[in-house]
Amino acid sequence: MTRRTTIASQKGGAGKTTVTLNLGLAMAERGDRTLIVDLDPQGGIGHSLCQGDVALSGIADVLMGACEPSDAVIQTKLSALSILPRGKLDAVDVCEFEQALLGEGVLEELFQSVEGGFDHVFIDTPSGLGMPTRAALATSDFALVPLQGEPLALRSVHQILRVIDHVKRNENERLELLGLLPTMVDRGNQASLEVLIQSWRDLAGVFETIIPRADVFLEASETGLPLAYLSGPKRPEARRFEMLANEISNLMNELTGTEAGNVEQAQRQLL
Ligand SMILES: Nc1ncnc2c1ncn2[C@@H]1O[C@H](COP(=O)(O)OP(=O)(O)O)[C@@H](O)[C@H]1O
Ligand SMILES: [Mg+2]
Repeated sequence: MTRRTTIASQKGGAGKTTVTLNLGLAMAERGDRTLIVDLDPQGGIGHSLCQGDVALSGIADVLMGACEPSDAVIQTKLSALSILPRGKLDAVDVCEFEQALLGEGVLEELFQSVEGGFDHVFIDTPSGLGMPTRAALATSDFALVPLQGEPLALRSVHQILRVIDHVKRNENERLELLGLLPTMVDRGNQASLEVLIQSWRDLAGVFETIIPRADVFLEASETGLPLAYLSGPKRPEARRFEMLANEISNLMNELTGTEAGNVEQAQRQLL
């Protein structure tokens, strides 16, 4: 069964694209067949993976009838990971792109035509509460909300939670809030730590895993690679996404009542 997860936040620069990419990679490295979908009209995933303004075929081309959905899916060098990019889209055509996405059954049909054989689909969305985010939530099993470690992010997080709740009640009853992921937590900054403490105290569903603020993320975007693919010693921040992938996998099993595929082990002697 494929599990679709929308990564959404009302706030710009909260870490949506970074989380989608690095979480998708961590899931694939666990062996789960994973598809990352770029539903942001600005093409954040493409920008994160390529230097310069590249024009990969993708969703926009499929919507225009210029490309078959399966031809738009890119197989990465990691066998379990594929990417469906935003596609070639002139900035002046963003409104048409968004309207096309909202067409009845359009996104559902698109997902069904590409997700066969995948365990996970992670959908990156633009900042805000607009059409692509609504359309993605309306077709997803789960929503994941990056919560930036800044007071402004905490103050406005109720907006995306309200939209998720509304979509669940009115459009897609299978949608579940997977959780809120603290991102860009600056451990040397009191205001940032305060956001973390307040979110754990006042909000339901905050993940145990947090993503700290670190310069290595800038290095990764400069290089056009996920953290785990940077050269040099393994970065502790990449390990965070492995922890996140484990936490999410267990949570999804709990929420869907699926048995984790744990192999039973016999008691052993240590000494
Ligand atoms: N944990 C982090 N620490 C430092 N910088 C980060 C972190 N996560 C993301 N960034 C950087 O912050 C910027 C915005 O992140 P991004 O994932 O594009 O946010 P969004 O998709 O929500 O707009 C990017 O330049 C990214 O490299
Ligand atoms: Mg983004």
